[in-house]
Amino acid sequence: MDPRYRQTLLQMMQSQAYRELAAAQMFGFGLQYVPELRWLKFMTWHIREEMEHYEDVVKMYHEFTGESVEPVVHARLKDKPIEFAQSWYELAMAQFLYDRGGFWQLQEYEACSFEPYRKTILKIIKEEKGHQALGERIVVELTRTGAFEGEKQAVFEKWLRQGLLSFGRPDTDGARYAISVGLRRRDPGPVMQDFIDDIKPAVKACGLKMPSMESIGIVPPASGLDLSLERTDEKLAQGWVA
Ligand SMILES: [Fe+2]
Ligand SMILES: [Fe+2]
Repeated sequence: MDPRYRQTLLQMMQSQAYRELAAAQMFGFGLQYVPELRWLKFMTWHIREEMEHYEDVVKMYHEFTGESVEPVVHARLKDKPIEFAQSWYELAMAQFLYDRGGFWQLQEYEACSFEPYRKTILKIIKEEKGHQALGERIVVELTRTGAFEGEKQAVFEKWLRQGLLSFGRPDTDGARYAISVGLRRRDPGPVMQDFIDDIKPAVKACGLKMPSMESIGIVPPASGLDLSLERTDEKLAQGWVA
């Protein structure tokens, strides 16, 4: 195996393992804010699935390298501590944006040229499909009660940033290489745009503003991003009731 190909795969696996464990930890920390049994059931199920995704990546890494990725992941968690949600509203926002970002990120590896990675990712994507929509629904319903007007924009920006960080930096040599050898489909730039387009109806339904990428510390692609909500139909948001 070409050393650069192998090195890129190692990085992909390490990042994926980090994201899955970070998700399990963040949603686990948030359990204390869950107000009702029906959402507790959803959240504990979700945490378990994120932990199992972590396990899948740990196994794949071990088969590939003969080593454990766990020390790498723990070092990275220590080095780059994850953000935690501090309320039920924030947890719902994290469920919506952090999880949705991960979902769009994973889809770029659906046709990955390294078969074991592709297989693992396809299984994770199937399960992530089941996580979609509920976070968005809770955010839209809660926001439209009017009880979160003072905090909604800041909470949105915090988790929008976390969602966007899943994609990595646009226009890098590393991404160009990964695309050229079929490890990933596209540059992070267009993936960011897909994610943004996907969340626009809910953003508009909540009366939120799209911040500039620079203001939330995200490097946009050189070609720019379309952040406009003008032609967005808020009725398409989950949880929308006229
Ligand atoms: Fe996951
Ligand atoms: Fe998830």
